[in-house]
Amino acid sequence: MNILIVGTGYVGTTTGLIFSEMGHQVTGLDLDKNKIKALKAGQLHFYEPGLEDLLSKHVTAETIKFTKKAKKAIKENDVIFICVGTPKGTDGSADLTYVKSVAESIGKYMNRYKVIVTKSTVPVGTADLVTKWITESQEDPIPFDVVSNPEFLREGSALQDALNPDRIVIGATSEKARAIMKELYKDFNCPIVETNPKASEMIKYAANSFLAMKISYINELARVCDVLKINVNEVSRGMGLDHRIGPHFLHAGLGYGGSCFPKDVTALIQIAKENETALTILEKVVQVNEALPLTLIEKLKQALGGDLTNKTIAILGLAFKANTDDTRESPSLILIDRLKAEKGKVRVHDPIVKLDGPPEQFPSIEETVAGADALIICTDWEVYKHLDWASLKPLMGQPNIFDGRNMLDKEIVEGLGFHYVGVANH
Ligand code: UGA
Repeated sequence: MNILIVGTGYVGTTTGLIFSEMGHQVTGLDLDKNKIKALKAGQLHFYEPGLEDLLSKHVTAETIKFTKKAKKAIKENDVIFICVGTPKGTDGSADLTYVKSVAESIGKYMNRYKVIVTKSTVPVGTADLVTKWITESQEDPIPFDVVSNPEFLREGSALQDALNPDRIVIGATSEKARAIMKELYKDFNCPIVETNPKASEMIKYAANSFLAMKISYINELARVCDVLKINVNEVSRGMGLDHRIGPHFLHAGLGYGGSCFPKDVTALIQIAKENETALTILEKVVQVNEALPLTLIEKLKQALGGDLTNKTIAILGLAFKANTDDTRESPSLILIDRLKAEKGKVRVHDPIVKLDGPPEQFPSIEETVAGADALIICTDWEVYKHLDWASLKPLMGQPNIFDGRNMLDKEIVEGLGFHYVGVANH
């Protein structure tokens, strides 16, 4: 099949490459000429393990092409995936400006029956809106169907997740479109959930919000465990072995960040409000998450005599989680802002992320921790697990480790003379 992917971010690029891998002819369309230039040259404009090799393979084989020319791309393709961003609007709801503009271009340029698929996470009812926007932009009435087919891949393991999904959700109202979608996914070995577009749109928000709720649950429980001197990691393990609960997303730490959970939880709360109902449980999920960096600052103050003025704090990790260069809504950046407000001196390190401006960033961990009154592990990069703590200790001003990801072996670092504070890591 000829597939057009509109929007070449994480989701769009990965989705396109997976379809190329499945034997389809794919075109990636984006307005950003720098992205298109890089992708045409086989270069990814973001960090995602394994994806660049696949990109270069399919660019060379010409099974994926990239373009800025919307009119030609829309005319030539039969299935169009909308993978553009849906950022958080001022009231917390998802901003559909980019989705609308893509729908209008499709309406304007379409020349024959097409299936238009929303892959971006969009509010309940968006498939109907896309249908309306396309219809209103058409000069002549040409038939089409809009399908909701949310994506569940994670940054950092995008390729693996997209190739081996737990399920594929197809929200369609027409049998013709449903059959085309099933044909497209016929080589995937997982259950297909067939439903209507609204339920499909809700499934995506419900899944992300549930995972965020699990994280906030364990983080709030960690606060209680901390007071009771209980190791929350052991509690997670003991809980997670219950099949009804499961072991995933029960890792206590600095809270969830990234471009999805914070945005989607707020959007779902907003959807409930707009429909004169409420999701109070999710309101609490957000509150718990937002309080986590502040709790760590309080612990830091306690360890450093109550005041952070002119204290040197080394931050290990800027990405919102390991294996990505994405810093959107990263707990690390929230902490850095807070430390600056408290007049602390911040030195930062990340193995992949390069900041454009301050705070001062160092290429090595040794330089980053030099003279530091404390270091905070903010991102669960594997490299931070295996540091030579014995040789780092003499470089620091004071041997304080704040482990925001509960990654280190407390006994080992305490045995070396560090003052260690984890997240209820007793
Ligand atoms: C998330 C979902 O997991 C994907 O299924 C979904 O497709 C994606 O959002 C999306 O909507 O596009 P992602 O944001 O890439 O994926 O990252 P996750 O691996 O889910 O992690 C989210 C945040 O939760 C990170 O900040 C991570 O550090 C944190 N987290 C995760 C915890 O604090 N504890 C845990 O136990 C697990």
